[in-house]
Amino acid sequence: MIKDVQERILKLKKEKDICILAHSYQGREIVEVADFVGDSFQLSRMAQTAPNANILFCGVHFMAETAKMLSPEKRVYLANPEAGCPMAEQMEPDMIQALKDMDPERKVVAYINTTAKLKCVCDVCVTSSSAVKIVKAMEDKKILFIPDCNLGAFVQKAVPDKDIKLLQGGCPVHASVTLKDLEDAKAKHPDALVLVHPECNPEVTDRADYVGSTSGIMEYAKKSDAKEFIIGTEMSIAEHLQYEEPDKKFYILSKKILCPNMKLTTLMDVLNSCEGINCGGGFEILMSDEEIKAARVCIDEMLRLG
Ligand code: 13P
Ligand code: SF4
Repeated sequence: MIKDVQERILKLKKEKDICILAHSYQGREIVEVADFVGDSFQLSRMAQTAPNANILFCGVHFMAETAKMLSPEKRVYLANPEAGCPMAEQMEPDMIQALKDMDPERKVVAYINTTAKLKCVCDVCVTSSSAVKIVKAMEDKKILFIPDCNLGAFVQKAVPDKDIKLLQGGCPVHASVTLKDLEDAKAKHPDALVLVHPECNPEVTDRADYVGSTSGIMEYAKKSDAKEFIIGTEMSIAEHLQYEEPDKKFYILSKKILCPNMKLTTLMDVLNSCEGINCGGGFEILMSDEEIKAARVCIDEMLRLG
């Protein structure tokens, strides 16, 4: 049954010139029909370079929005319109603008997990893989890092010569992991290396063997000579790694790290979207030229510094 649905999707992709981009937090059955799988920023770049007229994004809303901003001439669709990221919607542009007005010298660095509306009032965008590098490369010394205070704290430690202020935002999924979860996992698997996402709490990232983005974690695990790994990010990553590296063992750091937003997208959503594309259906990301222009400023600045 799953195979039949996948075959229908593969056929529609060809007929309708659709490129399917899947974030690596998507399940196996979706990853198998995707043209490219990666972290949020890699996928936006793929949307830019893909020759197809239609992009179908399997991930959350801000990711499809970023893809649209980077390739406005393409039609970008989100496979499940309900799939949002709570962190991306935590802060209102008015609040950030008010903080900027009070301290105009302080540059606002926004994690890519933000809405386009919020990006419009930010100076530079970063991803989990580029945050440290970009903040180091900025000429500015005074920074307000939003919305994720865990990623922000990770950057603070790596760039101690800058004055980095944080606000209380973050990913409820990664922030749910506690030191006790880490200790329990290590007690169960004492030989395993611990690889975690910087969205986890500092008490967790401080004790990890490696801290990095989704793709960073995957790359590290594949290249490492170690045989066992505790994976501290969305549990699909451990599953994909287990498929790709059958001679190694991957354990999830906590069963709480399941992103309900990422998991909203089903294979049937992918099929329904493919059927709808070019036939008046599918959930298309629509943005005005002005909106794209304003929100792209901080993305272009990231590309310049990165
Ligand atoms: P990446 O940028 O590592 O893909 O992370 C996106 C995300 O939503 C992590 O929770
Ligand atoms: Fe958003 Fe966290 Fe889910 Fe990533 S894991 S999409 S940051 S809620």
